[in-house]
Amino acid sequence: MSNQAVEKSALARNFSDAAKHYDAWATAQAEIASGLALRMDRREPALMVDLGCGTGLLSVLLLERYPKASLVGLDLAEGMVEACRKRWNGLDRARFVAGDVEDPACLVRGADLVACSCVAQWFGNPIGTMRMWAEALAPGGILACAFLIQGSFFELESAYHHALQARFQGLRLWKAETAHDIGKAAGLRVLHCEEESILAGYDSARAALRSYKHIGAVFQGQPGHRPLGPAQMRRLLACYEQQADSQGRVTVTHRVQYFIAEKPR
Ligand SMILES: C[S@@+](CC[C@H](N)C(=O)[O-])C[C@H]1O[C@@H](n2cnc3c(N)ncnc32)[C@H](O)[C@@H]1O
Repeated sequence: MSNQAVEKSALARNFSDAAKHYDAWATAQAEIASGLALRMDRREPALMVDLGCGTGLLSVLLLERYPKASLVGLDLAEGMVEACRKRWNGLDRARFVAGDVEDPACLVRGADLVACSCVAQWFGNPIGTMRMWAEALAPGGILACAFLIQGSFFELESAYHHALQARFQGLRLWKAETAHDIGKAAGLRVLHCEEESILAGYDSARAALRSYKHIGAVFQGQPGHRPLGPAQMRRLLACYEQQADSQGRVTVTHRVQYFIAEKPR
């Protein structure tokens, strides 16, 4: 599975623009990052990398959990990296760098922990990228990821299908088995693999759609993306609204796979 047609400059711009709103809207992402950190090993790494660190929702948990370890946070979006630099200004053991983690030039070799939460769905070549980072781990190093897999955002997909009689051309979400295939190809030993659904509830379909915008998870500037016209948007909202519960709340489902694997010594 690869999606070479990812326009990285647009992706970086959309996430940079969202950096100031991100933490207020990324409630599901915060829960997922906590879920990943909770499942991690107690062994203290020396060097950790947070791929696609965003505003640092996972970095903060890693720095707390492993108080002696150094951390490199990498993100494509300057705005996100800036937010992290401000937050950890003066903390010598944390460094944040702007860059594309799919680019081998960004690779940090010999890390003891490479972590990644809610990011791989944006990669052009998710399988190749995760394998590259897995192979670059130190012997005994850990790859710890929360992947959004198929089944995520099904409410939006279904509303889109009904409203527009078209398939939502969104993210490439992989099947649960894919992580195992990557682990096997990279020679990793799986320590933990578990799936769970994390739900975010909103007062209206409009608020649910706004949440995507406020965390930067939008497709503006991506090849083939055509913004919806006003009539299409009204139909989409109406179809999404039909899924509301008895209190009028609509849901965004995140189907999460926590995947933790070790590189043999
Ligand atoms: C949904 S946010 C998740 C951020 C953070 N990991 C969290 O859990 O809150 C996705 C992040 O991945 C970053 N990202 C996407 N593709 C990337 C790439 N190829 N290289 C580096 N960062 C990337 C985006 O800029 C964005 O900050």
